[in-house]
Amino acid sequence: MPTDVDEQRSGNPRQALRDYHQIQQLSESQEDAARIEQQPKLVSRFYDAVTRFYEFGWGTTFHFSPRRPGENLAESQRRHDREIGEILRLKPGMKVADIGCGVAGPMITIAQATGASITGINFSPLQIARGERFVAKAGLNDTCQFLYANFMDVPLEDETFDAIYSFEAVCHAPNNLLLFQELYRLVKPGGEIAIVDWCFTDKFDANDARHQDLRRRIETNNATPDLLTTGQQVETVQQAGFEIIQAIDQQAENGNPLTPWYMALQGRDFSLSSWARTPTGRRFTETVTKFLELLRIVPAGTGETATFLNIAADALVEAGELEIFTPSFLVHARKPTP
Ligand SMILES: C[S@@+](CC[C@H](N)C(=O)[O-])C[C@H]1O[C@@H](n2cnc3c(N)ncnc32)[C@H](O)[C@@H]1O
Repeated sequence: MPTDVDEQRSGNPRQALRDYHQIQQLSESQEDAARIEQQPKLVSRFYDAVTRFYEFGWGTTFHFSPRRPGENLAESQRRHDREIGEILRLKPGMKVADIGCGVAGPMITIAQATGASITGINFSPLQIARGERFVAKAGLNDTCQFLYANFMDVPLEDETFDAIYSFEAVCHAPNNLLLFQELYRLVKPGGEIAIVDWCFTDKFDANDARHQDLRRRIETNNATPDLLTTGQQVETVQQAGFEIIQAIDQQAENGNPLTPWYMALQGRDFSLSSWARTPTGRRFTETVTKFLELLRIVPAGTGETATFLNIAADALVEAGELEIFTPSFLVHARKPTP
């Protein structure tokens, strides 16, 4: 289990970002097997660098959600989380896995709404340390627990879970098929999965230089290698053995054109709490952190991390406006009974 020492060590953004770039270069030049081993370490170092920023701008939930007019980001996220709990018909006594649980925002909302017992699986010791605090604060130590593990190879018995869900974490996998096969092993026959994930849409054109440039910026600056298209994601879930119940782009189906998902990064939802996510707020944070870094008030590398994340955010907004990318492609599927 991560300790405060882990949290301090992994909380040095400069070292984390250096490790991230170094592992990334190695991964690019390596064969598949080595990449599969390196990628989770790369992601873990990425989150060591960015988790404090995410918490500053996003609170305890690190995913986009279809937004209704009048809702703020946190309200839309909580509604989205509860909907996933409803889709899976979660209830007290069920054993559920949250794959790539972040600092536990979705797990807390879903446990509160359904009473299910949830295990948050995460490869970031820093995030687990943060998540444990939030779970304790919510009084959910009885129903929420964490497992420090690489989701590609989870040290639990076959058929441990009644259901599995994941928000925006599969996009970090070095190989989606191997991950879905691991989820297939972990869920009971008849059990269901709900995967909400980043995908390119049918509008993405591999021959379009602008699309390819956006793809490179999104993948490099978010630790999300080789994102799939929505069609490829469905095929891969099927290939792992699951029966598809539904597969939808939740942004296109449940979102509202007046309140697109990327408005969270654009400044259109201006309020005191959302300001840190807006372009002005992001650039202000970048400038201030660089200054505070000079004064040694914040750790070295904080400003560099802010710059790095701004590149990612700008690329996401552009890809969202072009409708070539969605952060919320839902695949709801069942493991067949023998
Ligand atoms: C964008 S965050 C989403 C967090 C959370 N699902 C939420 O919505 O708040 C992606 C999460 O996936 C986790 N993750 C990425 N690769 C992982 C791996 N190989 N094993 C376990 N967790 C991983 C990260 O540590 C992070 O917690």
